[in-house]
Amino acid sequence: MTALTIATVDMTPAPERAPGPGPVLPRMLTGDRPTGRLHLGHYAGSLANRIRLHRQYQSFFIVADLHMLTTKNSREDIAGTGQRAADMVLDSLAAGLDRAHSVFYLQSGVPEVAELSLLLSSLVSVPRLQRIPSLKEMARHAGQREMPLALLAYPVLQAADILAVKATVVPVGRDNAAHVEVARELARRFNRRYGAVFPVPALVPADVPALPGTDGQAKMSKSLGNAIYLSDPPDEVAAKVRRMYTDPARTSSGVPGTVEGNPVFVYHEVFNDRPAEVADLKERYRAGKVGDVEVKEKLTAALNRFLDPIRERRAELAADQGLVEELIVTGTERTRDEVRRTVAEVRAAMGLTTALAGFRAAARSRAR
Ligand code: TRP
Repeated sequence: MTALTIATVDMTPAPERAPGPGPVLPRMLTGDRPTGRLHLGHYAGSLANRIRLHRQYQSFFIVADLHMLTTKNSREDIAGTGQRAADMVLDSLAAGLDRAHSVFYLQSGVPEVAELSLLLSSLVSVPRLQRIPSLKEMARHAGQREMPLALLAYPVLQAADILAVKATVVPVGRDNAAHVEVARELARRFNRRYGAVFPVPALVPADVPALPGTDGQAKMSKSLGNAIYLSDPPDEVAAKVRRMYTDPARTSSGVPGTVEGNPVFVYHEVFNDRPAEVADLKERYRAGKVGDVEVKEKLTAALNRFLDPIRERRAELAADQGLVEELIVTGTERTRDEVRRTVAEVRAAMGLTTALAGFRAAARSRAR
């Protein structure tokens, strides 16, 4: 994977529509909890895939602030949601999501999703959810000794997000694959029991290995402080690359070095648009004929070639005052309309509306 191949428009035909009833245009839903500015790890792991796919669908991007509450729910965490959501949308647009093909929405602005989540929760067992490794991982990561109820129900809420907009495809990383599987099960179970309401969503796996951090840790992450952000200025990128971890066994530039798993070369591989330069650097590195300084300077240059147009677009979009806010407001309203309709359909399919309608009719006739 190189910057060039991941940034170009994919010409492969859209996957077939998932079986079952659904909207005419295939729909895609994906998104993230509001963690803030996006970094190169987000780009390689999910954003590139979204950019490649999104024009083939009616694409919805969720800012999952209710999901955030399952592990982070202090007043400060919640208060920062707006800024972090705006940053994420801005970064996504700057990196190449086309706003004409994208609906951005805030999960907490669509409270009907919570109702759907409750209704779906009768269709899945606790042990089924307890077996999902990503949830135990998140609980541990959040320092929870016992599993919070909301965290156990995380995949059910995610299934509600997916089914509420009748998404047919859901591109997610490995950590979320099991959650999409729950959504598929719930769709099938619901349709069988109450009638065909939901398309069964297809998982689109983003099967790229995680991008290592600048410190050589397995994953680039904000909380580890080892990230290069899409919005970092050029000199900041240079400084971070200069401090980057390389081959620790290499004590001087005359010593043959290891390229495999060396984060500097992993980044070259993913982001450098000059494959001949990368091949040459690798060969000389293995032979002990190039210093870390040159390898890093060329990486800085490559990253800045990749990031320059993103920074430029970001500045343009940020100068368009109120743009991001408006996109989120209209996207949330649009999604809410959609979800209200689905939830009404769900209640009708389940027969949840009949009892109250019957009482109303009886009350009305007695009042006459
Ligand atoms: N669980 C996703 C995350 O890891 C966020 C998310 C919430 C999501 N609802 C979704 C992703 C629906 C895809 C589809 O942050």
